[in-house]
Amino acid sequence: MMDVGRHPNINLLTYSEVESISGYIGNFHVKVRKKARYVYENECTACGDCTKVCPVIVPDEFQQGFSSRKAIYIAFPQAVPSSYLINMDNCLGTNPIACGKCAEKCEKKCIDYDMKDESVKFDVGVVIVATGMDVFDPTPLDEYGYTKYENVITSMEFERLISAGGPSDGHFIRLTDSKRPETVGFIQCVGSRSEKYGNPYCSNICCMNTIKDTLLLKDHYPDIEAKVFYIDIRAFGKGFEDLFRRSKEAGITYIRGIPGEIFEDPKTRNLKVMVEDTTANKIEEHEFDMFVLSVGVTPRFDMPEVQQLLTLSKTSDGFFMEAHPKLKPVDAPTSGVFFAGCAEAPKDVKDSVTQASAAAARAETVLSAGKVKLEAITSTINTDLCRFCAVCAKGCPFNAISVNPKKKTISYVEALCKGCGTCSADCQFNAITMKHFTDEQIIAQIDAYLEEDPYSKVILFTCNWCSYAGADTCGLARLQYPPNQRLIRTMCSGRVDEKFVLHAFKNGAPMVVVSGCHYADCHYIDANRQTQKRVEKLWDKFERLGIRPERLLLEWISAAEGQRFAKIMRDNEELRKKVTKKEIEHTIKVLTEEEEKKKAKKK
Ligand code: FES
Repeated sequence: MMDVGRHPNINLLTYSEVESISGYIGNFHVKVRKKARYVYENECTACGDCTKVCPVIVPDEFQQGFSSRKAIYIAFPQAVPSSYLINMDNCLGTNPIACGKCAEKCEKKCIDYDMKDESVKFDVGVVIVATGMDVFDPTPLDEYGYTKYENVITSMEFERLISAGGPSDGHFIRLTDSKRPETVGFIQCVGSRSEKYGNPYCSNICCMNTIKDTLLLKDHYPDIEAKVFYIDIRAFGKGFEDLFRRSKEAGITYIRGIPGEIFEDPKTRNLKVMVEDTTANKIEEHEFDMFVLSVGVTPRFDMPEVQQLLTLSKTSDGFFMEAHPKLKPVDAPTSGVFFAGCAEAPKDVKDSVTQASAAAARAETVLSAGKVKLEAITSTINTDLCRFCAVCAKGCPFNAISVNPKKKTISYVEALCKGCGTCSADCQFNAITMKHFTDEQIIAQIDAYLEEDPYSKVILFTCNWCSYAGADTCGLARLQYPPNQRLIRTMCSGRVDEKFVLHAFKNGAPMVVVSGCHYADCHYIDANRQTQKRVEKLWDKFERLGIRPERLLLEWISAAEGQRFAKIMRDNEELRKKVTKKEIEHTIKVLTEEEEKKKAKKK
């Protein structure tokens, strides 16, 4: 961090908040609010005279509340810049000045109570999102008694207690009597792999963190007894298994089983648990002086703001979604935005550094090229046909289109367009066309498929990234499905215009299937939500027209779900067999009449 602070080419803005980001790859405009520190950071020598006279005492967040700080303080020992700041929420008041002791004491005169937040604007070519993560708060888990029993602490609190720079100068102490504990229990997967608490994912770092903690304990106190309760130990990285072995050799006991509840003996303040040891196949009772809850990782609390700033999308576990898990693991779906660290998924230091290096390299490829290659498949807008209804702008996942209905203006940044085709499918006035996957091309495919024996065919719209890839997986695995399913590929299911579906039915298709990526997996952020809305609208329309809505299916299929793809195809065929000729003829009749009515209305 010191190196970053001193680097001539890096402008480090600490204690600041990004307020807005507009623009696109190569041309982002950023507005940052630099919060007032009330101390001139370049003049402060961090002598500490001010903090000595400050009368306010509040819990120190960095020390997990185990020690206190003043209202004027340095956030943590390694903070860059190493200068003080005043937390105005803690200060006794500056307007009027209620205390003013720190300013009186400061010889350098670098305290200014009238300092204001500053707004900084600048342009950048790319953005790297490295917003980190939060840790799970185990307070709601009644069974572990965190906050009820003082001697139950989290792994973060353990870090502070055992740290040489911590509140107890590196002496690991029991909180109720400040004595060194003789026995310590660790419980793994607290807040991870739990549907109940909304974190079904593995937090990736907790197993190794506990193994490291046990080694630290043994290093400090060779006679200490420690037991780790786990579901399974995930020591899969380079050298990790070796570390695990060393921990066991050092005398740490690993018990496969998670305790149900922690009870405290009110007299001794010792903590007791019952656990089923699934390796030994027996119920055991254990007693400890202290318990450490190995808490999992959660997405940062302010992710929604960052998501909105950069039009990002999130995966079902709440972390940011990459453009492609294998081919673009550090790119965001928004061009020119890259990820580093736990913003994208829980990861340890090594993985975070690897991803950060990759993100820096990806950023450099954009910056050094000096120009940007646009997607070939983008939209084009015919402003003569546009009625400025703004439906396209609302549906565009990348905010590439903006419409002012009052002024009757539309603006479109092609560099932001990724070619999902949602705008084209949403436009009722044919004002938006795609450069590839045009209406004509898709209609021509439908016509070709239904030219002969249409009643025996199923028309299936598949998105390039998931359901079409699912069909590929199915083919690679040599899985069989009925040969009368006709696939039409679009880049995203959002491209499937309702007129394509109606055209297929009007030309005799007994069944139509619209398929795409699972929710939160759409490669165009959330374009498939528009797909869902469109299909639901069609279902309503079919009810109204006396067409069975079951003949139009909506299926989310991932690239890995080859088996599922084959099953859906087989199920489709069963459903198709139940569609009668009379039904199809009725459908053709009502849809043709409906179209003619529309045409007459237009005239
Ligand atoms: Fe598959 Fe959008 S890319 S549904």
